Amino acid sequence: MDPAEDLPQNKVFGKKRLPSAHLFAKIEQQDQAPCQHGREEAFSSMKLLEERIRKDGIIEQGDVLKVDSFLNHQMDVELYREMGREWARLFAGEKITKILTIEASGIGIACVAALEFGVPVIFAKKSKTKNIAGEVYSTVVTSFTHGNVNTVIVSKKFLGPEDRVLIIDDFLANGAAMLGLIDIVHQAGAEVVGCGIAIEKAFQPGGARLREMGMRVESLARVSKLGDGVIEFID
Ligand code: G4P
Repeated sequence: MDPAEDLPQNKVFGKKRLPSAHLFAKIEQQDQAPCQHGREEAFSSMKLLEERIRKDGIIEQGDVLKVDSFLNHQMDVELYREMGREWARLFAGEKITKILTIEASGIGIACVAALEFGVPVIFAKKSKTKNIAGEVYSTVVTSFTHGNVNTVIVSKKFLGPEDRVLIIDDFLANGAAMLGLIDIVHQAGAEVVGCGIAIEKAFQPGGARLREMGMRVESLARVSKLGDGVIEFID
């Protein structure tokens, strides 16, 4: 019998959700399978996000996908939890010590994911001051999406050479935010284990740029096309 049979409905998608023990038992079985990171058969957690984007995502002008009803304004934390579980499965065994994100929208997602990893979250602050002296790592992030330039800072107290860092953010478009965060981790002498992205706009160059650098990028939904009321994903 399917162990999900007698479980309550999942409020996120109206489907029955397996609790962690079942989830991990199932995932362990699947990890025996010879596939990249075991992800192809892995319970399709990623499909949850794709389905939600199809249902509630709004396509706006300029290749912007609005997901503020569940991801970056009103926040569906049950969906966040499934996303966190998926990253925890993908990065299992990587001995991650810190999760790094950038304010504002990455923070909620990173915090819920951090519960799965059992590590602290640091969020890079978009400082208003350009001249920052003292005990911070700082880098400049130029956002083509928002059309602005931010000096981004992280206190030196919270990142050091001993750290193995997972960077998490809601969107990957041109990659400016990710490149800035990677720069900060490198300034600390720490290691970037990978990037966990909720939505990658794969038709923009950020993902390719990061992967060409040898960075491991795990995007839960990869949008290949936006337009004419149609959203297409890369499987
Ligand atoms: P960029 O170089 O074009 O800025 O791309 P990048 O991958 O660095 O994306 C960074 C910012 O752009 C992120 O915001 C991300 O949320 C936002 N963004 C990019 N494309 C989209 C989109 O299609 N829809 C939405 N809703 N946001 C998008 P951020 O710097 O993390 O700031 P915040 O928005 O979280 O405050």
